[in-house]
Amino acid sequence: MNEINVIYQSRGGNTEVIAKAIAEECGVAAYDIESAVNVSGSDLLFVGMGIYAGKPDSSLLDYLDQLPVNVIKGAAVFTTSATGGEHAALVINLLEHKGIQVYPRHLNVKGKFLFMNKGKPGKDEVKEARDFAREVLDAFNG
Ligand SMILES: Cc1cc2nc3c(=O)[nH]c(=O)nc-3n(C[C@H](O)[C@H](O)[C@H](O)COP(=O)(O)O)c2cc1C
Repeated sequence: MNEINVIYQSRGGNTEVIAKAIAEECGVAAYDIESAVNVSGSDLLFVGMGIYAGKPDSSLLDYLDQLPVNVIKGAAVFTTSATGGEHAALVINLLEHKGIQVYPRHLNVKGKFLFMNKGKPGKDEVKEARDFAREVLDAFNG
């Protein structure tokens, strides 16, 4: 039986919405990295983060730094940000240094920030998240 976990760091709740959609699609719960859930037994780990001043929060980097080496098999990364751009390089690097194979596509969706992206993540982004989860699961199981 494969163990799937979904963890996220979210200051404002946007990333949490996406994490919950992914987790639901996988039939598991999503955990904030603050919750101290042990993910070392993961065969597949979804890692989500908000982007602040161009980077993930340092708490997420510290968290990933503590993961065991050559234990977790695969990971998939998702971000929310004002631009919806690609901001995952640092995290991917960290994961790969832990011997974790990272799924090549990353999910980067827009999240509300000040007057930008009102209502996001909304229905469309939640659907994107579910589709992403399904795509990763199919690749992982296939
Ligand atoms: C302090 C701060 C700095 C941010 N810096 C950026 C940034 O550099 N680039 C960007 O695209 N979005 C930036 N954002 C927007 C967030 O990435 C966006 O609101 C994201 O969805 C937040 O996720 P969260 O609600 O899970 O914390 C920033 C938001 C905050 C609060």
